Amino acid sequence: MKTKVIDITKQYDEALGESARLLQSGELVAIPTETVYGLAANAFDEAAVKKIYSAKGRPSDNPLIVHISDIDSLAPLVAEVPEKVKITAQKFWPGPLTMIMKKSDKIPNAVSGGLDTVAVRMPENRFARAIIENAGVPLAAPSANLSGSPSPTNAKYVLSDMDGRIPLIIDGGGCKIGVESTVISFAGEKPVLLRPGGVTLEEITGLIGEVELADAVLNELKEGEKAASPGMKYKHYAPKADITVIKGGLDGFLKYVKGRDCFVLCFEGEEGLFEKCVTYGRENSAFSQANRLFDALRELDEKGAKKVYARCPEISGMGLAVYNRLIRSAGFNIIEL
Ligand code: TXA
Ligand code: MG
Repeated sequence: MKTKVIDITKQYDEALGESARLLQSGELVAIPTETVYGLAANAFDEAAVKKIYSAKGRPSDNPLIVHISDIDSLAPLVAEVPEKVKITAQKFWPGPLTMIMKKSDKIPNAVSGGLDTVAVRMPENRFARAIIENAGVPLAAPSANLSGSPSPTNAKYVLSDMDGRIPLIIDGGGCKIGVESTVISFAGEKPVLLRPGGVTLEEITGLIGEVELADAVLNELKEGEKAASPGMKYKHYAPKADITVIKGGLDGFLKYVKGRDCFVLCFEGEEGLFEKCVTYGRENSAFSQANRLFDALRELDEKGAKKVYARCPEISGMGLAVYNRLIRSAGFNIIEL
């Protein structure tokens, strides 16, 4: 299959027309969002949704997020809209937040991975919204990377993973946030944060009170343990390089890596201290780290890095999302100095 790329910032009408045509005929289209690029299909078309799993090499029990462009599209997808979802949607939609609810029977099993729940998000990116609106159906979309590798934050990385596997990539430039959406389940008694992301835990608890933190956000699942979110049990965000996260300050880090033949994943301004390094944002700005992390992981591969030691981010606010992705990319190799 030949993969076409259309730059929506230059060919707006063609991008919308082609994506609507393909999505309505059961094909896949990679689309920009404010978090990461998504690999989209008509959420109501089970055969189309199945193509997502084969294009990504994704295990079929890992459910997909359904993307909508207006709030009226939510009710038909779910059994019921809980009060806390209404409040949260009003404040954080459109935006980098995904909410899980009991599903309606309109949601095919291929979307929900066989669960009785569905994850829904209304993205903020104006191109994403226009593409959904023009397609006229909600779009099921995971991140547009091959299963296991870092999520793509620009069209170049979508192409390197998906070339020949899908008919169309819509290039909308870089992603504003750079890590995936926050995922919260409202399907049980208490809301549970399953994946930290662009909306912080602190912002959500400030609005609706207590939100439980799923164990798997900060810890590796133990053998045989059931994941609240199936995606958490799979290897994730991993470049080819072997990464170790070093907790502690810069001085200890410098002593630790001294004399080792390795690459360093460090903060901006620290480049001069290391022979071989890639930076991921500023030490005091979790937003800049989120924005750079996945690109930095791919750059390490491009540079042929084999062994990498990474500086550790702050683990609060947006930093929780950065840390969650970084420790997964490192296969939970963490050293505390
Ligand atoms: O920002 C994002 O969320 C991006 C863009 C494209 O919207 N999408 C994304 O999708 O990151 P994906 O498939 O890479 O991650 C979705 C996560 C997975 O960990 C999956 O297991 C979880 O959400 N998930 C989806 N539906 C679920 C459900 N019904 N119950 C529990 N977890 C669910
Ligand atoms: Mg993903």
